[in-house]
Amino acid sequence: MSIFRDIPPTAGFPLSGREFAAAYRQRHAGDLLAQDFSDYLGVAVAAITCSGTAALYIICQSLKELSSKRTILLPSFICPLTALAVKRAGFDILLYDIGEKDFNGISQQVADICAGSDDIAAILVDHLAGIACDITRFSLTVREHGLLVIEDCAQSLGALYKGKKVGTLGDFSFFSLAAGKGLTMYEGGVLVANRPEHAALIAATMNRLIRQDSFVEFCRVMELLGYGLFYRPRLFWFVFTLPELWWTMRGDLVKALREDFEIDFPVHGVSGFRKAVCRGAFHRIESSIELQREKALRYSAALGGCAGLTIVQEAPGDRATYPYVTVVFDLPEQKKTALKVFSGSGLGVSRIYALALADYSYLRGIVPDMNSSKARMLAERTITLSTSPFLQEHDMEKTISLVKTIAR
Ligand SMILES: Cc1ncc(COP(=O)(O)O)c(C=O)c1O
Repeated sequence: MSIFRDIPPTAGFPLSGREFAAAYRQRHAGDLLAQDFSDYLGVAVAAITCSGTAALYIICQSLKELSSKRTILLPSFICPLTALAVKRAGFDILLYDIGEKDFNGISQQVADICAGSDDIAAILVDHLAGIACDITRFSLTVREHGLLVIEDCAQSLGALYKGKKVGTLGDFSFFSLAAGKGLTMYEGGVLVANRPEHAALIAATMNRLIRQDSFVEFCRVMELLGYGLFYRPRLFWFVFTLPELWWTMRGDLVKALREDFEIDFPVHGVSGFRKAVCRGAFHRIESSIELQREKALRYSAALGGCAGLTIVQEAPGDRATYPYVTVVFDLPEQKKTALKVFSGSGLGVSRIYALALADYSYLRGIVPDMNSSKARMLAERTITLSTSPFLQEHDMEKTISLVKTIAR
């Protein structure tokens, strides 16, 4: 096996030259991508944005027209970009903690926070790792305090909660079309509004905030083409693992995991070509979910009963998409051992977030240090196993055997 054979850590869609050529021919129909999403999800409004973060930013800016309150509740273990989007839109942040061995928020804590503040406009729930968050547990508090619900579906396109697609359960939601997220345009997002009466508001906010930026869009097209070339086991090491090793060696875990974000993220229009690339791959969503689920179920069947670890899984009746599988070890030392053992293995073993949201130094002053003990435990003890289409049975066998040894 080549030392450079490297499985991507998540189940991104590979893209071929033929697909790019077809997208180029279909670039004038790119704008139909929004309709594809609203048909697939069965929602009133879907709009394409240049990132999931930009979609959340536009949602929050729109929220200001719907509520005079200026605080949004975020979970304690989430992509730092969400905090930057909320802050940039002019909202303060309060945190609620998630479960010790799952990603569900603690409902009593949310109720207590809401009882203690009359400034909360919305709660953001995150369907992390393709697993539907148990949103019903917040229903009572949401009703009592008139909160709007925003779903972060960045990692969960196609996931089902009690038979319903995530992204259709709250007032607003967003999806990410970033590299490695499955369906991709390298950087991109989808904004969803579930109530038809919000359509005009979203359209007006998008009109106001989105500027055409040919240079940034040109760079994104180049990056997307580069993705098509490098997103394969033979070349992935050079663009992904090498920079990760470099920053890890320099002791900068946040940069190694590409979590060093800035608040002035771009908000610009997306070209017909990039939208057409997504349209061309749209038909792969359901079959890819099935393949990801097969791999995830294989991992959970082999590891689910092991002492020393927990696999984060869907609730009965739900359908997770599992762009990766999350393993929570009992002890932080086991995670450290796992990262050493799998370093350079090329087996697609990685991490979710470097830290709890409150612990990123660049978010100091933006995110309060509160309700983060479970998130810290997760950050210290979690690894992820890839469900990439490149992963083969022998890769999974090797990974399972090593994880079992570490958990013992
Ligand atoms: C859970 C979650 N929320 C939000 C985002 C932000 O999405 P994007 O990268 O498309 O801006 C991401 C992306 O990494 C994510 O994983």
